[in-house]
Amino acid sequence: MNAKQAAGYRAAELVQDGMVVGLGTGSTAYYAIEKIGERVAQGLQIRAIATSNASEELALKYGIPLIPASEVERLDIAIDGADEVDPEMALIKGGGGALLREKLVAINSDRFIVIADSGKMVPQLGQFKLPIELVPFCYEWTLGQLKRNYDVQFEMRTRDGELYVTDNGNYIVDAAFGKIPSPAQLSHELKMMTGVVDHGLFVDIADTVIVGYEDGRTEMIE
Ligand code: A5P
Repeated sequence: MNAKQAAGYRAAELVQDGMVVGLGTGSTAYYAIEKIGERVAQGLQIRAIATSNASEELALKYGIPLIPASEVERLDIAIDGADEVDPEMALIKGGGGALLREKLVAINSDRFIVIADSGKMVPQLGQFKLPIELVPFCYEWTLGQLKRNYDVQFEMRTRDGELYVTDNGNYIVDAAFGKIPSPAQLSHELKMMTGVVDHGLFVDIADTVIVGYEDGRTEMIE
């Protein structure tokens, strides 16, 4: 059992019969989905909403019943990974590009559980490049405005030599802030910018963090 698996499996145990569950994205969320799938095969009755096309495919593979968002007003629980977690449980997410759907699912869940290997726990956010999702239309102008506002390195995310396109048809720019002294303030500033759809700072959203260690231990922080 590795650290990601330990965290993912522990979170999956918190899912109960009748719940509507948000399924996260990434290599840690993978383990949670796998374990939830095992429990569904054993009779667990849940409905789920996936935060990416990749997680949707995984859920289908494991026989987890998926529903459209229109079927429910809120989710009972959402389980997702993170790229960085600070002592206040503020997060950087979006390394896998699914930040917008992940944030929508997280804020509309009664309990948002973050699963992370211990290497993701940091004293201050910012070493991991912050993903910012941009509307493709005139994105060069939005990028220019970002560069004028913040004296840090910005890099448009690419895949196979082309600009990376999210599941929502947008672009992502990764910003090397290095240190983010006030995640709440930066979150607000970025959100106010026209052309920015959303960003990977999750502030005051996480309810629980499950940290996984390489020896298989887990720690739950609330
Ligand atoms: C996906 O867009 C991300 O937010 C992931 O949840 C995050 O990058 C963590 O991924 P890993 O669990 O693969 O490290």
